[in-house]
Amino acid sequence: MTNTTLSPSDALLGPDADWWRQAAVYQIYPRSFADANGDGVGDLRGILSRVDYLKGLGIDAVWMSPFYPSALADGGYDVDDYRDVDPRIGTLAEFDELVAALHARSLKLIVDIVPNHSSDRHVWFQEALAAGPGSPERDRYIFRDGLGENGELPPADWTSTFGGPAWTRVADGQWYFHMFAKEQPDWNWANREIRDDFLKTLAFWADRGVDGFRIDVAHALTKRLPEPLPTAAELADPTLFPVGDHPLSDRDDVQEVYAEWRELFNRYSPPLTAVAEAWVPADRRVRYASRDSLGQAFNFDLLRATWNPEEFRTIIRDNLALAGQSGASSTWVFSNHDVVRHASRYGLPSGGEGREWLLSGGTSEVEDRDLGVARARAVSLLAFALPGSAYLYQGEELGLPEVVDIPESERQDPAFFRNRGVEIGRDGCRVPLPWTTEGSSFGFGSGDSHLPQPVWWGDYSVETEEADDSSTLHFYRRALALRHELQTAEELSWIDAPESVVAFRRPGGWVSVTNFGVESVELPAGRVVIASGALDGDRLPADTTAWIVVDAD
Ligand code: GLC
Repeated sequence: MTNTTLSPSDALLGPDADWWRQAAVYQIYPRSFADANGDGVGDLRGILSRVDYLKGLGIDAVWMSPFYPSALADGGYDVDDYRDVDPRIGTLAEFDELVAALHARSLKLIVDIVPNHSSDRHVWFQEALAAGPGSPERDRYIFRDGLGENGELPPADWTSTFGGPAWTRVADGQWYFHMFAKEQPDWNWANREIRDDFLKTLAFWADRGVDGFRIDVAHALTKRLPEPLPTAAELADPTLFPVGDHPLSDRDDVQEVYAEWRELFNRYSPPLTAVAEAWVPADRRVRYASRDSLGQAFNFDLLRATWNPEEFRTIIRDNLALAGQSGASSTWVFSNHDVVRHASRYGLPSGGEGREWLLSGGTSEVEDRDLGVARARAVSLLAFALPGSAYLYQGEELGLPEVVDIPESERQDPAFFRNRGVEIGRDGCRVPLPWTTEGSSFGFGSGDSHLPQPVWWGDYSVETEEADDSSTLHFYRRALALRHELQTAEELSWIDAPESVVAFRRPGGWVSVTNFGVESVELPAGRVVIASGALDGDRLPADTTAWIVVDAD
């Protein structure tokens, strides 16, 4: 099924234009979801074999992380060809089949677009290398001469996001800029050819039926590199560059790119959606989320939220206000392919993001798995009750913990290799999913899995959890189904409650109550329709959320 192109005025009236506003979106990291051909790497056939599972979860849309041809220097975020499928993952024909299979079940598909950088195997980077300094081919990327007598020093002392230098020298002596790994050269967005090529890519996928895009590193596309280049210390000094005019990040002029994209998105019916991964201050996020821009932006506050009711109240209040300013709905996300899984984060006595714990190989403190899962369920249920879109990461519906003990020899993340001893990387949240209690790669595929799975992985498998009515899987299904039933207008009102309790009401007499304290608390009057854990009679125990419906008289 493909999208229909309409004139912009028709598109505004298109059907179902607001489907994304309160959607539950499930992120698939394709290489680790399901492997149909047994080569150890997940694939489109694997996803196709699980579309009924996806439908059964009660989600509205799937967001697929990159599935494009890639050397996997950064798990697929190093794209060789933006308009093709990695042969290890499948074919374009299979992609079309997947779109059709999802749409047949009324599920939307969002794909990841990686516009800040390509891979160093992209044909245009190869052409840039071959063509030499000063050529139009080199102008598609960011090349500079080096410093020092013979240009042997990098043009600036900048560090890449994954550690190590942000400039790499090529054979003829010039250097190119890469914000991430050296295999990820940054595009030069001042070059019209790049803008046109991405418009072509977006239309390519839209014409194949895709419903929306997740935009990787959305804040960094446009750059303005003054000569001489600022030092790393100068780049980090907020007094040197006015907001919106930083050389590398969150420039006002990036919105010119998105205005063009929005024009293209609005030619489809319903208009395509887009969500920005923009690491910018909250007040700047509004620009990316506005209707003239991408339309929605990730709020990453919950990736860092500790088990603290005041923190949750502030995050909710602030993000609903920001969403109001942009006209978008807010997003709520606890886990993704870049962070420690939240079932583990909430089981760590220190709270927080779990970075030190990861770095220590899980030895710096003792993870309490039961507490982690209980709290993860409680906060997920809380977030499912909020107005806005809920983004879920594959495996969180199983309560999957982070894998902390992956041997060095098996690690894949460039953040590990480029930043040894400082960062362990993100492999632990990307371990292939367990589908069966036993068997080869726990049902992920008929062979091994590309990252090692722990021996206890089967305890969290779909098969094991299917058989247990109290499992996290059954809980997620019930919660998402109820969310669908109960969700109406995007409004929320706070309910007076003890300091340790986060309680609010949604239209239609639907109330969510979370107990962050240590003692059980009294539940508000009404019918409990779901709870994240066992109740204590008519009281809500610690570490638990319940939804209550107050029936109209
Ligand atoms: C984003 C992605 C991350 C990737 C990086 C570079 O932050 O989420 O996985 O490594 O961009 O593309």
